[in-house]
Amino acid sequence: MEKREELYAGKAKSVFRTDSPDYMILEFRNDTSAFDGKKVEQLDRKGMVNNKFNAFIMQKLEEAGVPTHFEKLLSDNECLVKNLQMMPVECVVRNISAGSLCRRLGVEEGQELNPPTFELFLKNDALGDPMVNESLVETFGWAAPADLQRAKELTYKVNDVLKKLFDDAGMLLVDYKLEFGLFKGEVVLGDEFSPDGCRLWDKETRKKMDKDRFRQGLGGVIEAYEEVGGRLGINFDA
Ligand code: TMP
Ligand code: ASP
Repeated sequence: MEKREELYAGKAKSVFRTDSPDYMILEFRNDTSAFDGKKVEQLDRKGMVNNKFNAFIMQKLEEAGVPTHFEKLLSDNECLVKNLQMMPVECVVRNISAGSLCRRLGVEEGQELNPPTFELFLKNDALGDPMVNESLVETFGWAAPADLQRAKELTYKVNDVLKKLFDDAGMLLVDYKLEFGLFKGEVVLGDEFSPDGCRLWDKETRKKMDKDRFRQGLGGVIEAYEEVGGRLGINFDA
């Protein structure tokens, strides 16, 4: 597959066209962003670490029956993906209270959420990714109701697969954000799954091992991402 011009540059990844309209190339950059782009820094190795981390997780999800856009790794920082028509919403599942849930509802961090919560946010940095709901998604045509239902079902299925995967490696999957799109009529998981878009805590010490280290200025961001990967058996030097 031949790499063509850049189509879009997001906060941490760039998307390139290929010689096929059905496939695109994702390039993971070292840029690390938080608070809707208000805090941005370059972190050494981050693009490579997230590219390989994402490849590992997407393959695990495919094996478990979750359709994903991931096709194959192309280089340290690039992978080939299907060209999805993205839904402009973020699907968030929480197993333990943290982040905006605590701020919005005055809930203490670290409470087990049973059953896990499901939330929708509109992808719009200028508006600060406001929370939306299924009615708003339908009315504004951000996704067809059946497609949104399928995305929700897949988001929960990802929870079943990844909660166990991280638990077996001594970590708690606190929460995560997924984005979906349509490929030839089918709802498919897009974007990425990496410590940038989820919260992971050490099971024993509850040490934060995800992008909260960057958001909260705790340091050791990429070291933590690499430790998560190492525990899962990912070889970043391969
Ligand atoms: P929140 O607590 O800030 O709402 O975030 C919930 C989870 O979703 C957390 O794992 C971070 C992730 N997330 C993103 O990756 N990108 C975003 O734009 C938002 C709002 C959340
Ligand atoms: N990913 C979003 C940003 O870059 C939100 C966040 O992770 O805090 O601003």
